[in-house]
Amino acid sequence: MSAPDPAMEPSPTAPASRPIGVFDSGVGGLTVVAALRELLPGESIFYLGDTARVPYGGKSRATIERYTLEIAGLLLAEHAKALVVACNTATALALPRLQESVRTPSVGVIGPGAQAAVEATKCGRIGVIGTRATIASRAYERALQALAPTVEVHALACPLFVPLVEEGWLEDPVTDAVIERYLTPLRDAGIDTLVLGCTHYPFLHERIARFLGPEIAIVDSARNCAVALKDLLEREGLVAGGSAGRLEVALTDPPGAFLGVANARLGLGIGQVQERAVQGVQRMS
Ligand code: DGL
Repeated sequence: MSAPDPAMEPSPTAPASRPIGVFDSGVGGLTVVAALRELLPGESIFYLGDTARVPYGGKSRATIERYTLEIAGLLLAEHAKALVVACNTATALALPRLQESVRTPSVGVIGPGAQAAVEATKCGRIGVIGTRATIASRAYERALQALAPTVEVHALACPLFVPLVEEGWLEDPVTDAVIERYLTPLRDAGIDTLVLGCTHYPFLHERIARFLGPEIAIVDSARNCAVALKDLLEREGLVAGGSAGRLEVALTDPPGAFLGVANARLGLGIGQVQERAVQGVQRMS
């Protein structure tokens, strides 16, 4: 199975002025977009949230690989010059397949998240929370231990967090109770750093920090992912010239109320949202 790569076809514009294609299963990846806008304000971004099929977190590798290649096809049809997989689940399960199948360069969020954690920890005990699929893949353990072989990793799936975020229950006693239920064992394990290993979770940052207290640093992938993308663009000679890149947002299902909440929280100034159907990938035998 291999995605078409329209970026390899003649594009109507010069390579550097083409957009960065960013995607997530839903609106969570907008937390990464906020960091990209801050570090790379001259880059235009085409964001695709696969809201018709969210959540990805309980799905199989085969399904997540297929979704990822389908979305890559859509982003490449927008002439994306680079791809950002702003979803830990898709990074954990499908980034290698994407990089094998598509020549356009791509970055994921797990390496950058692991880097942030290794920089933050002092005692070497790191907690990681994510979707069931991300945690079962052990991708964070591999990325963390590749950077710092002696770290002790405590990984935990928190599948109720994504629906709570998508429901907009960011400050709610029900969410606080779920945070307490999931995170008590991690807090008691003596970690000093927690990685938010799902791009939806930064929306819960304040409530998680309130529960864990000031002794535990909370990190996510967003800032380091933007740094990784900047390095990639520089290496490939793809940095955009100007200072005011555009942000276009498309979803595979009509927007729910949470998009407005996310937009306001992240200060992204999202205007009209497009709706896109994802094409099936070409099968090559
Ligand atoms: N935001 C996604 C992640 O970073 C996944 C959420 C989901 O679709 O389950 O893993």
